Amino acid sequence: MAKPLSILFVSSEVVPFAKTGGLADVSAALPQVIRELGHDIRIIMPKFAAVSDRKFKIHDIKRLTDMPIQIGDRTLLGSVKSSFLTNIKTKVQVYFFSNDELYCRSDLYVDPNTKKAWPDNDDRFIFFCRGVIQTLLLLGWRPDIIHLNDWQTGLIAALLKTEYADEPLFKNTKVVFTVHNAAYQGIFPKASFEKTGLPAKMFKQEGVEFHGEMNLLKAGLMYADQITTVSPTYAREIRSSEDYGFGLEGVFKRKARKTVGILNGMDTAVWNPEIDSLIPQTYSHTSLEKKQENKKALCARFKLPFDPRIPVIGIVSRLADQKGFDLIKEKLVDIMKMNLQLVVLGSGEKHYEELFTKTAKKFKKKVGVHIGFDEELAHLIEAGSDMFLMPSKYEPCGLNQMYSLRYGTLPIVRATGGLADSVEDLDEKPKAGTGFVFTEYSARDLVDAMQRALKAYEDEKLWQSAMVRAMKKDYSWDSSARRYIDVYKKLLKKK
Ligand code: ADP
Ligand code: GLC
Repeated sequence: MAKPLSILFVSSEVVPFAKTGGLADVSAALPQVIRELGHDIRIIMPKFAAVSDRKFKIHDIKRLTDMPIQIGDRTLLGSVKSSFLTNIKTKVQVYFFSNDELYCRSDLYVDPNTKKAWPDNDDRFIFFCRGVIQTLLLLGWRPDIIHLNDWQTGLIAALLKTEYADEPLFKNTKVVFTVHNAAYQGIFPKASFEKTGLPAKMFKQEGVEFHGEMNLLKAGLMYADQITTVSPTYAREIRSSEDYGFGLEGVFKRKARKTVGILNGMDTAVWNPEIDSLIPQTYSHTSLEKKQENKKALCARFKLPFDPRIPVIGIVSRLADQKGFDLIKEKLVDIMKMNLQLVVLGSGEKHYEELFTKTAKKFKKKVGVHIGFDEELAHLIEAGSDMFLMPSKYEPCGLNQMYSLRYGTLPIVRATGGLADSVEDLDEKPKAGTGFVFTEYSARDLVDAMQRALKAYEDEKLWQSAMVRAMKKDYSWDSSARRYIDVYKKLLKKK
């Protein structure tokens, strides 16, 4: 094998330590597969409150304790602790960057009381980005690649190209920046820019400035050596219009040649109906009848009557605009007249939480809702539902549709981002289809896709053959991880 690469993977969330969405799943699974392929990859993330020292056997690193780090005119102390991400085959080192005052809070980014971003998120992530660089300097570790993810890490790219441009340790290091969601940009007032330590000349349109404010996603885009996004379709969408680029479509367009879309994979050790320890009954494509046991358990969990003739449609999601729930809201009356049951697990925007809670109260035998974050219930919904609904307005990749395929739970999705790249319509392709796809973002088309799904469900033979096809699809990380490694290698060849 050629010389192994060394990679620092920087992410603000990593399963099982801290998670709000798919970024956390990706940030655990991808590094583990890259490690399995023989490379030295380590992860660094902030040490949030959920990251318990005892639970995760975290220890201090003496020489990385109380490092003074400047944000604006304040000097704060940051320490690095360490543990491992372990599965059967590998062990990946994880560094936790800690400062209790900044990170030890009840939620990662948002104050649960106000439902608004923590007011000092600028300090929290400027400090983290500076801390990551400081950690490498003190470790004396020279990674070939620093792989950044989303706005929380974008400043690192800008700092490396300015303040650390002549730092010998990073002379041969290349920076990859992955956009998991272009809607979250880390926008802060100009006063926050002054705390970054970046030279004043970078506060311009060609730099990190965005309509008079600082944009940390843009910092990553402007200064990384390579940009990636999490599906090929999303890579095209973000440069196509404001609906997808959220004001950065021009930047995405200019950076098109530096950008590649690589579809996320799924962690098949965690999401596998054959060995899943979080579901009542394991099953495979050769024992589909056993899936019914999970459906029974799911109905019982939500106090819904169990009836094999009524399909259960599952939703597991952040309750955010992105996910397309306003389409459901618009046609709720029609949807409630259909022959279906709906189970929803999610949390987020209050009006969506209320929408689903109220609906469940009104339609007790039809709708079950759990507001909150619950890993185990997410598995039960994947295993026990017949269909899975993701009518997203945009979806950079989406993981739940892939989990659903693996669990034989046919997805109903809108053709956007990774949903378009992973689900094929059963009506359009009766021999290849794995779900139901609608294109236009409209409630009418959603209802139409749901009706098509209900009709197909009545045809047991058709349905079961689609289930088997879906379950056999390979969306494991292996091929996508290899594509990331190719990206790294190509980049390192460039001078
Ligand atoms: P996004 O990252 O936009 O939220 P993804 O589909 O990529 O969407 O990933 C969402 C991840 O978060 C999945 O692993 C999903 O199961 C999980 N998830 C979302 N909401 C909840 C919840 N309320 N409880 C448990 N898991 C959830
Ligand atoms: C983001 C996107 C989601 C994607 C995930 C992981 O949260 O919203 O579509 O799957 O990141 O890349």
